[in-house]
Amino acid sequence: MSNTGMLKSSLAKKYFMALTGLFLCLFLVGHLLGNLQLFVGGEEGRLAFNNYAKFMTSNPLIKVMSYITYASILFHVIDGFVLTIQNKKARPVKYVVEKGNRNSSWGSRNMALLGTILLVFISTHMMNFWWKMHFGDMPIYKGVKDLHTITTNFFNPNENVMAGGAMALYVFAMISMSIHLSHGFQSAFQSLGISHPKYSPTIKMIGTAFSILIPAAFASIPVFLYITQA
Ligand code: HEM
Repeated sequence: MSNTGMLKSSLAKKYFMALTGLFLCLFLVGHLLGNLQLFVGGEEGRLAFNNYAKFMTSNPLIKVMSYITYASILFHVIDGFVLTIQNKKARPVKYVVEKGNRNSSWGSRNMALLGTILLVFISTHMMNFWWKMHFGDMPIYKGVKDLHTITTNFFNPNENVMAGGAMALYVFAMISMSIHLSHGFQSAFQSLGISHPKYSPTIKMIGTAFSILIPAAFASIPVFLYITQA
């Protein structure tokens, strides 16, 4: 491919990376809001979470959103790997300045590593909850699949010997997600060509807040479930 062809295709990949990344940020907000119901205790919390899970797996519109989410994860991962390889090939010898931290943050230089950690996390996470909910042998409570018990037991040291490890894995994954988002969020806007001296500082500020608050709120769920059930 000619240099301009290569540049065009890598710009298209960056564009796609940005669109799928921002869609996944929206998914995170929705997923977090649903999961925050796990803070509600007792019978009320159990019924609310199970009915929510039933709605999320049966509503046709939500199903379409789920398929878009799976596709976005897949394309974001593939596109990310291809871009990383392309960048490495285009620049086989690291610039001296790139090795330091004067021009770029550690996160921005390690997006592929952080993304790989998240991919491993999402794969194990989906095997533990999503696979069980869709294809596994689920307990039934009051006529509805009891995803609440599956989820809370997973982080309950009296039910799962690996609960402590699971909690630690979730916290580690959320720290990785925070660093990934702290660069990814604002970088997505740049890739889409939304860069302006007036708006960019605000985008950066929203990105920083998003990359701290969302992972922290996610991480607080397994920590809460572990501590309150120990
Ligand atoms: C830390 C707290 C979290 C809890 C308690 C949690 C819980 C769950 C549960 C119970 C499901 C199954 C729902 C279903 O299939 O109906 C699920 C699905 C899923 N989770 Fe999480 N989750 C958490 C964090 C995350 C994070 C941080 C990500 C992404 C980085 C994520 C990605 C997903 C995906 C992609 C699905 C499949 C969604 C779908 O089928 O539409 N989860 N989660």
